[in-house]
Amino acid sequence: MSGSPVVGWKCAVCGAEVGIAQPFSWHCPRATEVDRHHAPQLVQQPVQELAPLRSSGDANPFVAFRRYLAWDAFAAAAGMSDASREALVVELDTTVAAVAGTGFVTTPFARAHALSDELGFTADGGVWVKDETANVAGSHKARHLFGILLHLVTAERSGIATWSSPADRPPLAIASCGNAALAAATLAAAVHWPLRVFVPPSANRHVTNRLVELGAVVVECPRRADDPPGDPCVHCFREAVAAGAVPFSVQGTENAWCLDGGRTIGWEMAQQTEHDDGPPFDRLFVQVGGGAFAASVAAGFRTSGVTPRLHAVQTHACAPLSRAWDLAPSVGGPRHVAEHWSDVMWPWEHVGASAADGILDDETYDWLPVMSAMADGHGEPVVVDEAQVLAANEIGCRTTGIDASHTGTAGLAGLLALGEHVARDERVALVFSGVRR
Ligand SMILES: Cc1ncc(COP(=O)(O)O)c(C=O)c1O
Ligand SMILES: [Zn+2]
Repeated sequence: MSGSPVVGWKCAVCGAEVGIAQPFSWHCPRATEVDRHHAPQLVQQPVQELAPLRSSGDANPFVAFRRYLAWDAFAAAAGMSDASREALVVELDTTVAAVAGTGFVTTPFARAHALSDELGFTADGGVWVKDETANVAGSHKARHLFGILLHLVTAERSGIATWSSPADRPPLAIASCGNAALAAATLAAAVHWPLRVFVPPSANRHVTNRLVELGAVVVECPRRADDPPGDPCVHCFREAVAAGAVPFSVQGTENAWCLDGGRTIGWEMAQQTEHDDGPPFDRLFVQVGGGAFAASVAAGFRTSGVTPRLHAVQTHACAPLSRAWDLAPSVGGPRHVAEHWSDVMWPWEHVGASAADGILDDETYDWLPVMSAMADGHGEPVVVDEAQVLAANEIGCRTTGIDASHTGTAGLAGLLALGEHVARDERVALVFSGVRR
């Protein structure tokens, strides 16, 4: 078998193309330090036999859906045989499991009966919840990063890396003090790859202690007098990347390859839907911070030919994507926003507080694929208030028994906010990601 149908990347903003064989193609080739408004998207060859979505049946989604991964095409182009590509996924997964206590396993996705009853859904409709809290490092974030890790190890072993031995590896870098940092540190520890995590002085000590335990170097980034506006952790992270570190990031603008492995969650959901033989979902609510999560879930569904009605959920504390959606008509509609990035998407000026603190990214970095997924499926953003964030967590955790954080249940807050606009015989899908810490 040759590699996956992915042939390369094309920037949704400037049109620059990069072939899939190109190693370390983290950014659009035309992106610069001062112009970060670029958005490489995967380009696939239309291959008839790939629809409907087919899993190999393996419990590990990176094995089950390997033939759809951009990484698989990259590794094939680097000369790895089909068998050795599969073997590499299994080998790295085993090392991850040794550190995390679990490897990548298809996570549960089922109708939440008690939740559906409590919200008044009929037997035809209901709420389906995918439980990502038991995934590697307690959230979906490791899915985004495992694809980048596969890329790095493939480049190293096939001799196309700029370093020749593990001792000379460039460090990995990430700016995060939450689920993404924990996922990064877990994967880095699995392969003994050095990692620098840039965190604010206010970072949760339980998290930073765990990062250190996992062997990461935690770098506190207080605001410096000469800092430009924006997050000081992101400035430190970008300095590290400029000095040669690998952007081990879950934001597509910092590393577009995070959008590859993230799709496994959408593939799992779409596959199960096909398997259950029920009607497709009417709506999909996804909590949105930087946007990579929603972009990946939607892209995963799209592979199966299904375009659910996507609702990107943000809170009143910070809702730049919803603002962009409202401004889109002024530049020709949501399908034409790429050429008008600065007119439509810019950092939220005064980010408020919310218990859903994982979705307070001041800018929705991966907004373009989320905008088009909402447009394609006739969805729209939902902005929730704090009472709905709190109620969703209470109802969601109590009725399902899943111990998710407020960020993790924020998609349900979107469903609560839409209230009677959602008919009780509709089928609604949610993802609870991010274990309560
Ligand atoms: C549990 C959880 N859900 C959702 C998100 C949002 O993902 P994204 O930033 O890719 O939109 C995050 C991000 O931190 C998260 O930790
Ligand atoms: Zn570009």
